[in-house]
Amino acid sequence: RTVYLADYQPFPFLLPQVRLEFTLGPKATRVRARLEFMPNPARPGRHDLFLHGENLRLISAKVNGTSVHSELSDIGITISANDLSGDPFTLETEVEISPAANTALEGLYMSNGMYCTQCEAEGFRKITYYPDRPDVMARFHVRVAADLPVLLSNGNPVGSGPGWAEWDDPWPKPAYLFALVAGDLVAHADSFTTLSGRKVDLNIWVRPGDENRCAWGMEALKASMSWDERVYGREYDLDIFNIVAVDDFNMGAMENKGLNIFNSKAVLASPDTATDDDFARVEAIIAHEYFHNWTGNRITCRDWFQLCLKEGLTVYRDQQFSGDMRSHAVKRIEDVLALRARQFREDQGPLAHAVRPDSFVEINNFYTATVYEKGAEVIGMLRRLVGDEAYAQALDLYFTRHDGHAATIEDWLKVFEDTTDRDLTQFKRWYTEAGTPRLKVYEAWSPAAQGGTYTLTLAQENPATPGQPEKGAKVIPVAVGLLNPNGDEVVPTTVLELIKPVQSFAFEGLAARPIASILRDFSAPVVLDREVPAAERAFLLAHDTDPFNRWEAGRSLAKEVLARMITQGTKPQAAFLDGMAAIAFDEGLDPAFRALALRLPGEDDMAATLHQSGHTPDPARIHIARKALARAVAERLAPGLPGLEAAMRVPGAFSPQAADAGKRALRLAALAGLTRLNGGAAAQAAFADATNMTESFGTLAILLEAGLGERELAAFEAKWRTDRLVMDKWFAVQVSLSAPEETAQTVGRLTARPDFDMKNPNRFRAVLGALTGNHAGFHHASGSGYRLLADWLIRLDPLNPQTAARMSTAFETWPRYDADRQGMIRAELARILAAPGLSRDLSEMAGRMLHG
Ligand code: ARG
Ligand code: ZN
Repeated sequence: RTVYLADYQPFPFLLPQVRLEFTLGPKATRVRARLEFMPNPARPGRHDLFLHGENLRLISAKVNGTSVHSELSDIGITISANDLSGDPFTLETEVEISPAANTALEGLYMSNGMYCTQCEAEGFRKITYYPDRPDVMARFHVRVAADLPVLLSNGNPVGSGPGWAEWDDPWPKPAYLFALVAGDLVAHADSFTTLSGRKVDLNIWVRPGDENRCAWGMEALKASMSWDERVYGREYDLDIFNIVAVDDFNMGAMENKGLNIFNSKAVLASPDTATDDDFARVEAIIAHEYFHNWTGNRITCRDWFQLCLKEGLTVYRDQQFSGDMRSHAVKRIEDVLALRARQFREDQGPLAHAVRPDSFVEINNFYTATVYEKGAEVIGMLRRLVGDEAYAQALDLYFTRHDGHAATIEDWLKVFEDTTDRDLTQFKRWYTEAGTPRLKVYEAWSPAAQGGTYTLTLAQENPATPGQPEKGAKVIPVAVGLLNPNGDEVVPTTVLELIKPVQSFAFEGLAARPIASILRDFSAPVVLDREVPAAERAFLLAHDTDPFNRWEAGRSLAKEVLARMITQGTKPQAAFLDGMAAIAFDEGLDPAFRALALRLPGEDDMAATLHQSGHTPDPARIHIARKALARAVAERLAPGLPGLEAAMRVPGAFSPQAADAGKRALRLAALAGLTRLNGGAAAQAAFADATNMTESFGTLAILLEAGLGERELAAFEAKWRTDRLVMDKWFAVQVSLSAPEETAQTVGRLTARPDFDMKNPNRFRAVLGALTGNHAGFHHASGSGYRLLADWLIRLDPLNPQTAARMSTAFETWPRYDADRQGMIRAELARILAAPGLSRDLSEMAGRMLHG
């Protein structure tokens, strides 16, 4: 059944106070709930009371102490208005649930003997009967009883004894922010004193043995707390902040009030078990969940259509934070790479949807790159348009005006309108219309004695997406700078506001025809559709003062070179290779930036690029051409590679900070080049000498990519056999780097191992996610990749529909490929749809992919 934004109605009752009592047992947990309702003045009249509830065994229901009849369905219970008084009334229910039988990892479930919860978006209804919607905000008092040493819930601890603990959360919240954890856990403890002097106890709770992997997460937490005070003026608001690491988790982490629950992969990190990328991800996710305390918890969403209200803003905030902690340029490049790889891809296929969709079947299917990452881009554009100062004022107004409320995108835009006097009606299309705009650029130059005029004409196209054939022009901030032919900047970054389908902007008084640097810092999430002579790209690669566009110039060149190698079988141009060498050995540049510039466009990215320029991508040819280009770059860099490799070694104790991480990344790039040219000796030596996971895993990957590394793979396994997180890497890397014709076989071999556990989402993703990420292997002409994925999705769906549905998006790119592949993918989607008892999650996804 489809839910529509247009159907929103306030809940007929207010719920000031909730009391919950849990008596935990793996197969039988008792939940007693006492809900204090009163009529909601926003919905006058007499109303039945409907409460969500799924998979609950109802034991009793009482209104004001008297048993009451309730109409039971498989989605909840209804109590007739006749059984309710018009005034405040109390509903008490008792239900039984089975956490041990919960493999969907939604609601209350067990992971390695510990109890934990995941309630966003609609999991609380699997715990007790409740109005499970984000606009119902209540204060929770929770009692947990279990024979376990650690019993946690939201808010502040208010009492405990042997086998029980009570928690009280003074801040009203929707049910999706409820959390409970119980288990045999140990804490890595610390504290933080807020700006106004509140001392907050901080704990990261883990299973015994993992204590030594918490230090980095704790540092990141403290850094996030002080950053939010400094930059957004937001303080923490409870006496305690708990984080728990859980091995079985569908997503990265969850911002439950005062009790964040994390996938252990997203919080645990030590130099010997986590790579630099893992450290950076942990820092970003800790920050993200912490920042939700204000953007998500204190101000929440009125309904799930408004999901981007909290997610877009919180991603935007965590991106700003990571930029401040590390390098803004490198962070921006990484974010744009991810945006193009996931969000542009989504926007260009059958799953395209608006940042704020207006209908859904299963809301879990809308925790997407569009809602999160494009949602963050939209906020970045808003800020560019209004300026930093107005942005800060608008945010202050947002926090004061909506604190304690469940808000909408209209509320969000209104604070900007009220602080700037701008009309954001047209800008709002970014929230309501799907699709990636394409920007065409036309240039004109008219010389004159007293200074010539350069005119930029920008034209936008807004392609049709499923259900949205026609779109209006967007407000697009286009940041532009002009360089003169010597490479000096003659016009510094200026934000042009494109609001019409076509618009011209003139720059006067220029001595010579300038070279334009357009869409600096990726000022809008659009595709720049522009033919640029290779010489001009090379010029920008060498001279652009905007680091993002400098990288972008190299990136576009690489794509053009690679596209020609794929479609015409040409050799890479010397100018491109020279440009790569100039960047690689430029000691004035940040090593992290150099490493990023040397990373070639991925195969999936090339498939998208070719498709957009009217070619049908051939995955096998793309794979071969990319390898050839990597080899050609290595040959061009060859004389400098040994020196670069030596210069980028980082001696001494491991530090996860960006400076050292950047050197390690560049050193690995040098080692990869050396391995392509000379075989595995250098990488093998580096593997043997590795003193941290970045080096050992990085060199292992380099060897496997070159078809070597069997011995190292075995050594790695022997060392890490019992470590789930490290073994996930071991599983994944073999599939990711498997040759196309061997990929399906590799997956078969790994899934047959006893330590492949499909119920653990990390392990499932390590193998099947890596399959979908191996472009040439997944799209192998035999169809073996498609079949394999469909088999596993059908097998996983009854156990964990959420993860199955998410992984099915691997099929969303089918329209790009040739008729054979299209036919095979569509047949697999049809086979999935026909599976008996298919979940709402997976059937919505397969249906949308098959029928738009
Ligand atoms: N709100 C969480 C975050 O962004 C994501 C949880 C989503 N979970 C889900 N099952 N849809 O950090
Ligand atoms: Zn979030």
